Amino acid sequence: MRIILVGPPASGKGTQAKVLCEKFAIPQISTGDMLREAKAKGTKLGKEAAEYMSAGKLVPDSVVIGLIDERLKQDDTKGGFLLDGFPRTVPQADALGKLMADKDIALDAVVQIDVARELLVERAVLRRTDKRTGQIYHLKYNPPPPEAELEHRADDREETVNKRLDQYESMTAALLPYYEGKGLLRRVNGVGKPAEITQRILAVLGKG
Ligand code: AP5
Repeated sequence: MRIILVGPPASGKGTQAKVLCEKFAIPQISTGDMLREAKAKGTKLGKEAAEYMSAGKLVPDSVVIGLIDERLKQDDTKGGFLLDGFPRTVPQADALGKLMADKDIALDAVVQIDVARELLVERAVLRRTDKRTGQIYHLKYNPPPPEAELEHRADDREETVNKRLDQYESMTAALLPYYEGKGLLRRVNGVGKPAEITQRILAVLGKG
């Protein structure tokens, strides 16, 4: 299974990715997580990326394409993978297509998680992540247990979330017609309980 999850910030890609990757026993490849890890380690790449991320802007294509190129060389991707947050621009999608063609592999589906913009700001602003486990919580919809060590992402302030949503609309939404034209796009309503959304995704993947 080789799939892409596409959707605006805070639409639930990370939440669904964790469940799907466990079910299909494939790795979750999240460029956002990879960039945050580089930032936490204080690498040159992490420092450069952090400037774009905290401004709510996309990191340059060449940087994230390089990360994915390296990641797809690792053995654990041989049995499939789920891309979460990549590609995010048409040049990234073209680069992925080329990388996969060189490996003689193809995508099974691109799943769009569809959530109206007005719901997304609240989802992002009240998101908290347990820094020990990576588990994603929401202060209202999925409250964390008392023992969780909570982190609030630097780009989850309302003003930055709005900029990220603008970037999605101006840069990433173009991927929807791109993949629709290739017959790969599967649309899923992302409003409801997370478990319901998982069922909808499994259904469009023909695994329900
Ligand atoms: P990234 O980390 O990819 O962020 P994002 O796409 O903005 O997505 P999020 O992680 O914010 O949200 P999500 O859809 O995973 O939602 P989640 O499941 O957490 O990227 C961050 C930054 O890195 C970018 O802005 C950019 O700068 C850079 N970057 C990354 N990739 C890049 C690329 N390819 N090119 C260039 N730059 C790149 O859920 C959100 C909240 O909602 C949680 O609190 C969750 O508990 C809650 N929730 C989930 N599902 C539901 C539900 N069904 N009902 C109610 N609440 C729910």
